[in-house]
Amino acid sequence: MNRQVKKAVLPVAGLGTRVLPAGKTTPKNLLNVVDRPILSYIVEEARAAGIEHLVFIVGRGQAAIEDYFDAIPEIEQALAAKGKIDILEDLRRDLPEPGQMSFIRQMAPLGLGHAVWCARHVVGDEPFAVMLPDMLMQADPPALVQAVEAYEKTGGNVVVVEPAPEGEAHKYGIVALEGRDGRLNRMVGMVEKPPPGTEPSNLFISGRYILQPEIFRILETQERGAGGEIQLTDGMVNLMKTQPFHALEYEGTTYDCGDKIGLLRANVAFALARPDLGDAARKAIGELL
Ligand code: G1P
Repeated sequence: MNRQVKKAVLPVAGLGTRVLPAGKTTPKNLLNVVDRPILSYIVEEARAAGIEHLVFIVGRGQAAIEDYFDAIPEIEQALAAKGKIDILEDLRRDLPEPGQMSFIRQMAPLGLGHAVWCARHVVGDEPFAVMLPDMLMQADPPALVQAVEAYEKTGGNVVVVEPAPEGEAHKYGIVALEGRDGRLNRMVGMVEKPPPGTEPSNLFISGRYILQPEIFRILETQERGAGGEIQLTDGMVNLMKTQPFHALEYEGTTYDCGDKIGLLRANVAFALARPDLGDAARKAIGELL
C-alpha cells in the first residue's frame, strides 16, 4: 500500500505584484473570495483530502496568515455574549487543532523549488502534497482529494494538470505524457515556461502535487532555471529519472487568484455556487449587466 499523504506544503511567500495595491499590506493569499480569504478554501480542500499538518512557507510581513488561523478571544466572546452562534461557528470553522500548522520563513525569494525545500525538516521522510494557494479550484470532490485518489492507484508522484488557455502555455509548467488515455496518464517529461511553439502538450501544471520526499535532496543542490529561479519543475524532471510520475487532469475549474480578473472570476463563481447567497448574487450580477 502507498504511504499516506498527511502533510501539505503551501508556499505563500510570493510578492503578489499582479494584485497590487490590494496585496500591499494584506498577504495576497488572504485576499477575499466572497466572505473568507483564499487560504480558507485551500485549507478546507487540504482537510477534505485527509491532510493533518499544513506547512506554510512565508515571507516577511505575512504574520497576518498565522493570526488568521488562530483563535480571537475578544471577538469570540462578544459573539457568544450576543448569541450570534452562527457567525461564531463560521469563524471557528477555519481553525486547526493546536499543533496542526507550521510556519517557515523562506528568507529569500529564490523560487518555488526553494520554497518547497524549506519544508524538508517538517515534512521528513514521507510523501507530501504541495498546494499553490493562488490557484483556487472549484471541484467536487475537491482537487486534492482527486489527486490523493489518483496517488492511491499509482503511487510515486502525481501532478494535477489541465488544458492551458490558447496561447498561454508558455506561462506555466507543461507536462509531456507517454500516451493519453483517460484523465490519469504516465508522464515522460516536464518543462517550465517553454518558449511559445515548443510546448510538449497543452497540459499545464495547475498547482496541486503529491511528491515523494526524495525531491528534497534534489532541490538541495539544484541550479537556477527559468526566470533565474530554483524551479520545482526542474527538480521533478530530475526525480522522474528514478521514480514514476503521473499527470491527473482533474475535474473542476481553476481560478488564478494571483491575477485581478482571476480573483474577480473566483468571487463571482464562488458566490453563485453558495446555497445561501447564490440567488442574491445572480440577481445582483444580472442587474449590473
Ligand atoms: C508555478 C509553477 C508552474 C505552474 C504554475 C501554476 O509557476 O512553477 O509549473 O504551472 O505555478 O500557477 P509560477 O506561477 O510561480 O510562475
